[in-house]
Amino acid sequence: EAAEKAGYEHFMMKEIHEQPRAVKDTLNSVLKDGKFDLTDIGLAEEDIRRTSQIYIVACGSAYHVGVVAQYVIEDLVKIPVRVELASEFRYRKPILDPNGLVIIISQSGETADSLAALRETKAQGIRTLGIVNVVGSSIAREADKVFYTLAGPEISVATTKAYSTQLMASYILAIEFAKVKNTITEEQYENYIAELQAIPEKIEKIIEDKERIQWFAAKQANAKDAFFVGRGIDYAICMEGSLKMKEISYVHSEAYAAGELKHGTISLIEDGTLVIGVLTQPELYEKTISNMVECKSRGAYLMGLTTYGNYSIEDTADFVVYIPKTDEHFEASLAVIPLQLMGYYVSVAKGLDVDKPRNLAKSVTVE
Ligand code: G6P
Repeated sequence: EAAEKAGYEHFMMKEIHEQPRAVKDTLNSVLKDGKFDLTDIGLAEEDIRRTSQIYIVACGSAYHVGVVAQYVIEDLVKIPVRVELASEFRYRKPILDPNGLVIIISQSGETADSLAALRETKAQGIRTLGIVNVVGSSIAREADKVFYTLAGPEISVATTKAYSTQLMASYILAIEFAKVKNTITEEQYENYIAELQAIPEKIEKIIEDKERIQWFAAKQANAKDAFFVGRGIDYAICMEGSLKMKEISYVHSEAYAAGELKHGTISLIEDGTLVIGVLTQPELYEKTISNMVECKSRGAYLMGLTTYGNYSIEDTADFVVYIPKTDEHFEASLAVIPLQLMGYYVSVAKGLDVDKPRNLAKSVTVE
């Protein structure tokens, strides 16, 4: 096992470091001469043109990818997107648009609820596309079309590199759909692809700075609760950051749409409660800052996660992590990295079994 960990203490840390490569491979698998070519996936332009609605169905972190994708696809492609938990979708007798496309996202391709949702969709005669990591898995075999993420085998129960490659696959679909449906210009298309190509190196840079997060995480190891707040794509990032924290560090954590705080959660903020604000979306920055100020005035200890340049956050936050800028649609790919590292280092500081957290399985093949 030590050899498999390639010098890292845990698989999770090894897999965090594999993200630039995994994301780059996934992108390059569909790039030909600077443009996307989705023929291996079998997505013809006609399939795209016909699609009037997208449903994304998944569990766990893959569902969180779906929440990001919902914002990105709706904004770029201008068609409605619904994202649903597979365990809910499968039992609610969904009414699906005949010209809709159901996208099932799954690392393992074996998650029971996601597979059942796929079968329910097919029984209704609706087209399906799997975003799957494991070649030949049940979802890969049964979906009409498959977009394989090239994360490679993921051992740690808490996903990192598979999540990052699923995000990349979602961006690629969003950009290609937008191009075919003429909702972006040729110039935007090229710029978006260039932004995606720059992401692996930016992830690398964030990982290089990991000691700073380690220091902060060690200080937070005794936290009882953590609240992750943000708006829009930042809210979707919060969901994943919060899950990472609870699943491997056993810290009670919640992701909250920042604007909803005042409808309940703010009553839980006391002296020293850890609140992590995610602020990568320029239009929402001031709004989320004001929510952080509200938490601070109730005694919260604030961490801010934002892009370089937003230095005014230091007036509010006690600790700030800056990440590089990319196009705002793709910022989740960068913002998730410090949050993965936070979960990891809090878990290590508490002496927990990072790769095999209690009560959890890598692949949930039973209901
Ligand atoms: C488990 C894993 C998660 C994963 C989820 C969905 O809960 O611990 O990391 O996101 O299952 O798995 P899938 O294989 O369908 O992506």
